[in-house]
Amino acid sequence: MAAAEKQPVAATGPFAGILSWVERRVPLLATYKAHLSEYYAPKNFNFWYYFGSLALLVLVMQIVTGIFLTMFYKPDAAQAFASVEYIMRDVWGGWVIRYMHSTGASMFFLVVYLHMFRGLLYGSYRKPRELIWIVGMVIFLCLMAEAFFGYLLPWGQMSYWGAQVIVNLFDAIPLVGPTLAVWIRGDYVVSDATLNRFFAFHVIAIPLVLAGLVAAHILALHEVGSNNPDGIEIKEKKDASGIPLDGIPFHPYYTVKDTLGAAVFLIVFAICVFFVPEMGGYFLEYNNFIPADPLRTPTHIAPLWYFTPYYSILRATTETFMWVLGAGVIGMVALIVLSVRNNLVRLASVAAGAALLVAFYVFEPKVWGVVLMGVAVMIFIPLPWLDLSPVKSIRYKGPIFKSALAVFVIAFVVLGYFGTQPVTDIGTIISQVCTALYFLFFLLMPWYSTMDKCKPVPERVTW
Ligand code: HEM
Repeated sequence: MAAAEKQPVAATGPFAGILSWVERRVPLLATYKAHLSEYYAPKNFNFWYYFGSLALLVLVMQIVTGIFLTMFYKPDAAQAFASVEYIMRDVWGGWVIRYMHSTGASMFFLVVYLHMFRGLLYGSYRKPRELIWIVGMVIFLCLMAEAFFGYLLPWGQMSYWGAQVIVNLFDAIPLVGPTLAVWIRGDYVVSDATLNRFFAFHVIAIPLVLAGLVAAHILALHEVGSNNPDGIEIKEKKDASGIPLDGIPFHPYYTVKDTLGAAVFLIVFAICVFFVPEMGGYFLEYNNFIPADPLRTPTHIAPLWYFTPYYSILRATTETFMWVLGAGVIGMVALIVLSVRNNLVRLASVAAGAALLVAFYVFEPKVWGVVLMGVAVMIFIPLPWLDLSPVKSIRYKGPIFKSALAVFVIAFVVLGYFGTQPVTDIGTIISQVCTALYFLFFLLMPWYSTMDKCKPVPERVTW
């Protein structure tokens, strides 16, 4: 039997004729209904739910300002620095477009970090939203790559030496490292060839991927529905017409709420753009106002603030810290062997632990710094399977999870701070303690999330 044909959504109003004609060919109205006017979102969204739409706003702003910058920028090692100065001084309105783009990069990370933190607060990564979380993490990786490639473009001292330091990290990879580093640069040092390819990735390749991923992120969200500050599935309680009892249409309720968030955000953004575009060296580093000089290495090389927590982890991985890592591996294996009943899992963890210890001995700490830095970012991906708490939201989680999250946030901020500073003995020790706390938050989660004393979750959302 032939499948029943889907009826197009009926259009009304003065343009009903043309709208119906379009609707029979492309389901515009149906899409509007499914994703806005009849997308039922929980009625208890709070402050933390502003950051998804703000991330979308910043993404659009970065693309639009980027298009205008590209009209005047020259991706050529001999002209790049001067072309940025030309944009700042001679192009009409150029300075505001450039400052919007550079401030926008920092704001993007601020907004996305707060958006991810909301996920940690309310367990938004938990079933059935694992895919939204994983796509979000791929977005985050792309965002890091986008910022890294973009930072080389002004061709200042920090652009040049920052890229040199990061690409040189690939050198540390055993066997293929040196060849890989040359392949990435297109030369033996960061040069014109590197600038050209970074430009290509920054202006087209990664933005295209980002746009596709953001669409997938929102489609995945609308398939399962939004979580909320209570961590209650609103789809489980519906009225006779199938509408969630605790849901309200996204449009107009949340479009209005998000407009207020966007207005407040734009005020803060404008204050930064017009009054503190450099933010004391945190948004634009002072050394980057000096043209790149391959013969003069700056005494202190640091990335911008949004990368510094990971940079600190890289620098914290010293010879001595390898002993701490070794002890950590032994501790983890012991914990798994004592708490898991499955002999295969026990055996696998002992074998993996032993292999890691041998590898710690064979490869130098520099390699492990790079590995730890990478793992520090990737470790967010398995969160949906590490958090075994019976409840999703922090509102109903017990004191252990709350304390662990607080310690994690403090460790992240402290690592971020020390990553901006020159290396000192005390700074290294504090960074090492914070690195250990950072990883323990994730690695011990399966244990402490089950031991915790959670509160009962109400039947319906509270607001
Ligand atoms: C360009 C970057 C991003 C954009 C434009 C974006 C956009 C959005 C939007 C519009 C929403 C729905 C509104 C909201 O819940 O706030 C959302 C939800 C969500 N996002 Fe993102 N996002 C981005 C990056 C990320 C990242 C990096 C992660 C985490 C790794 C993430 C994880 C989530 C999760 C788990 C939800 C569902 C939250 C819930 O229902 O409680 N997103 N995102």
